[in-house]
Amino acid sequence: MNNCLIFTGNANRPLAEKICEFLGKPLGQMEVSRFNDGEISVKIEENARGKDVFIIQPTCAPVNENLMELLIILDAFRRASPRRITAVVPYYGYARQDRKDRPRVPITAKLVANLLVAAGAQRILTMDLHAPQIQGFFDIPVDHLFAAPVIITYIRSKNLTNPIVVAPDVGSVKMARAFAKRINARLAIVDKRRDNPDSVEATHLIGDVSNCEAIIVDDLISTGNTVVEATKVLLENGASKVFVSCTHPVLSGNAITKLASAGITEIIVTDTIPHQSLPEPFTVLSVAELLGEAIKRIHQETSVSSLFI
Ligand code: R5P
Repeated sequence: MNNCLIFTGNANRPLAEKICEFLGKPLGQMEVSRFNDGEISVKIEENARGKDVFIIQPTCAPVNENLMELLIILDAFRRASPRRITAVVPYYGYARQDRKDRPRVPITAKLVANLLVAAGAQRILTMDLHAPQIQGFFDIPVDHLFAAPVIITYIRSKNLTNPIVVAPDVGSVKMARAFAKRINARLAIVDKRRDNPDSVEATHLIGDVSNCEAIIVDDLISTGNTVVEATKVLLENGASKVFVSCTHPVLSGNAITKLASAGITEIIVTDTIPHQSLPEPFTVLSVAELLGEAIKRIHQETSVSSLFI
C-alpha cells in the first residue's frame, strides 16, 4: 500500500481513521478549513504526485457543505498530479431525486455524479446506493458495496427463532429479498404511501408476521416515518419483536426520539454517517473494514466483486 494515500474531509473523520487503522496507514495530511465568509479552503500538506489517492467523504448532513468540501478537495488533487483519484463516498446524498417522477423537477443523483467527475474523481467507491442504477449515472468505474455482510453476521449472532424480513415499501423489496435469502427467512412487504417527503402512511401488509421476529430492511432512515409506520403495522399484525436494519442513519429532525419510542427492539445502523452517540435501541456497526478491504483491493488491482455479496 506504499503508493497509496488516504485523505478525508470533515464529514466523517472517525470512519476515515478506522479505515486507516485497518489498512495500517496514517491519514494523509490535508487542511480543510473555512475562510471568514464561509468559503472552503483546502491545502494538501504532502506530495501526491504519482500516488493512488483515496478521498473519504460521505455527503451526509450538512449535505451541501460536505459535498462542496469533496468537490474542492477533488479539485485540489487533480492539480497535484496523482496517478488516480478515487472518491470514497460511503453515503451518497441527493440520491433520492433519481428520476423525473413529476414535471419540472431535477435529477440530483445525476447532477452530483456529473459534479464529482467534473471536479476530478476518476473512480467511485460507495455503499448501498438508494437506487442501484445510480451507478449508471457515472461514466467512470463505480464499486458499489453492500453493508449486508456486516449486518447479517450481527443478525445471525442473535439466533432469532422465527425471523421474517420486511420490506417497508416497494422500493426496498429487492434489498430485503436478498437479505432474507441470506438468513434463510421469509419475506413480507408493507404497502407504504407517501403523499409528501415528510409524511407516510403504511396500511397493508403482504405476508404473515404473527409470532415472528420481524426485521425491517432499508437503505436509509431519514425522518423515521417509514420505519415507525411499518413497525405499527407489524406489531398490529402479531409480530413478537421488531428489529430494523438500515445502512445509512440520516436521522433528520426528531427522528431519533421518534424511533426510540416506537416499540422497536433494536435498530441496527452503520457508521457511514457519524453521530455523537445514539440512544437505545440503536446499535452502530462499523463498515470501516469492508471499505478498507475494498480500498486495498482497488489499489492492488485485485477483485472487489467478492465483497459485493
Ligand atoms: C424510500 O424510498 C427509502 O428506502 C426509505 O424508506 C426512506 O427514504 C426513508 O425515509 P423516512 O425515514 O423519511 O421515512
